[in-house]
Amino acid sequence: LPVHTTLTADAPTDKPSFAASSIEAQSFDAIVIGAGAAGLFCAAQAGALGLRVLVLDHAKKLAEKIRISGGGRCNFTNRDLDVRQPQQHFISDNPHFCRSALSRFTPQHFTSLLQSHGIAFHEKHKGQLFCDHSAQDVITMLQGLCAQAGVKIWNPCEVHSVVRQEGEAHQERFVLTTSLGAVQSAAVVVATGGLSIPKIGATDLGYRIAAQFAIPLIARRPGLVPLTFASSDWATYVGLAGLAMPVDIATGQGKNKTQFKEDLLFTHRGLSGPAILQISNYWQPGTPIAINLLPEMDVLTALLEAKRDSKRLLANVLAQWLPARLVEVMVAQQPQWLRAIDQVPDKALTALAQQLQAWQITPSGTEGYAKAEVTLGGVDTRALSSKTMESSVQPDLYFIGEVVDVTGWLGGYNFQWAWASAYACAQAM
Ligand code: FDA
Repeated sequence: LPVHTTLTADAPTDKPSFAASSIEAQSFDAIVIGAGAAGLFCAAQAGALGLRVLVLDHAKKLAEKIRISGGGRCNFTNRDLDVRQPQQHFISDNPHFCRSALSRFTPQHFTSLLQSHGIAFHEKHKGQLFCDHSAQDVITMLQGLCAQAGVKIWNPCEVHSVVRQEGEAHQERFVLTTSLGAVQSAAVVVATGGLSIPKIGATDLGYRIAAQFAIPLIARRPGLVPLTFASSDWATYVGLAGLAMPVDIATGQGKNKTQFKEDLLFTHRGLSGPAILQISNYWQPGTPIAINLLPEMDVLTALLEAKRDSKRLLANVLAQWLPARLVEVMVAQQPQWLRAIDQVPDKALTALAQQLQAWQITPSGTEGYAKAEVTLGGVDTRALSSKTMESSVQPDLYFIGEVVDVTGWLGGYNFQWAWASAYACAQAM
C-alpha cells in the first residue's frame, strides 16, 4: 500500500500500474464512485481507519461542485441545524431517516476539522458558514486527508460496469470494469451526487447502479432552482431583471403550507434569489406561489393613513415603500394608481394591499438541472440503513450524499448531509 498519494486537480492522479487488459483486477477494501464532497470525505475517513480505498471519478477536475459552491466560498454547513430535529431543514420521502447520521457528525465536527487545518470561516446569514478565503481550501483539505490516509484517486476514469461476483474462498466481491482497467473490492460506495449541472460532470450513474441492484428510487426533480413563467405572463416584468428585494414567500395550503423570509430576484425569464430557490423545493407544478412584497408592514393600514393625511398620488405613496422600478411597472398595468390617494375608494386600496401582500403567481416550470443546485428524490432511504447507509437489499453496497433521497434547504445543509452520510458510511465499512 503506497503511503503517499500526490493529488493535483487537473491531471489524472495515481494512475493504475496495470494495463486495461490485465486479468488480475487490483483489489481494494472499498471503492468509492464519485470524488465530490461525500466521496472524498468518506474515502479519507475509511482510509484513516485502515481500509485500502480507491476513489473513481470521470471528471478531469475533482470536487467541482465544492469549487463553484457558495459563490466560490463554499457554504459548507449551517450552524442552525438542530440535530434533534434535523428533518425540519431537509426534504425526503422518509423524513426521519437523516437524523441518525446528522446527529453523529454535526456542523461543529466539520468546523472543528476546518479549524484544525487553519481554514478561516465566517457566518453570513441565518447560520450559513462560508470560507473566508475560497472553496478551494475545503477541496485542498479533503485531498490532503485522502493523501494522508493512503487513498488512491483515479480520474478521469469512466465506470463501465459494477458486478457482484464470487471471488477467492467463495467470498463475494464487487468487480468494476473501468476505462483504466478492472478493479475489485469488498465494498462499493456510490457517491455520484445528483443530476444538477451536467456540464461539470453530473450523471445518473448512481441511480442506474441502484436500479441494477433492485434498490428502489424516488422520482427525481430539480431543486433549489429558479422558477420560470410563460412569456406572455412575464412580458410585464422582463424590465425588472436584476431587481432584488426582501419578501415573504409561501406555497401549499393548510398543513402543507411552506413559508420563507428571504430575498427575491427578478430575472429575464422569471424569479430567482434565495426566496425562490428555497420555495422551489416545495412548489408543485400547476400551483401558485404567494409573495408578500412588503412583509414588514400592514399595507392596508398604511394606505388608509396616507389617504387621511395627504393628497399625494397613490404611486408616490407606494414608491416610499417599494422599489421605484416596480412601482413604474405596476402603474403601467394599473393607470388608476396615478390618481391622488384621497380619490381612491377604500375598496380599491384593500384590493391593492391584498395584491402587494399576497401576490399570487403560477410558475410555468423551473430552469431545470442546468441551473438547479440540487436534485430532489433519489435512492429510496427505506432501502438503506440510517446508521450505515448500506443497502438492505445488497450487502456491502452503500449510497451517500446527494444521490440519496435527502435534500437540504439552501444554506449549507446539503454539504452537511454529504459530510454526515459519508462519515456514517466510513465508520461502518
Ligand atoms: P457531488 O456532486 O459533489 O459529487 C459527485 C461526484 O461524482 C462528482 O465529482 C462527479 O464528477 C462524480 N460522478 C458523477 N457521475 C459519475 C460517473 N458516471 N462516473 C464517475 N464519477 C461520476 N450545497 C451547500 O450545502 N452549500 C452551498 O454553498 C452549495 N452551493 C451550490 C452551488 C451550486 C452552483 C451547486 C450546483 C450546488 C451547490 N450546493 C451547495 C449543493 C452541493 O454542491 C451538493 O449537494 C454536494 O456537492 C453533494 O455532494 P456529493 O458528493 O453527493 O455530490
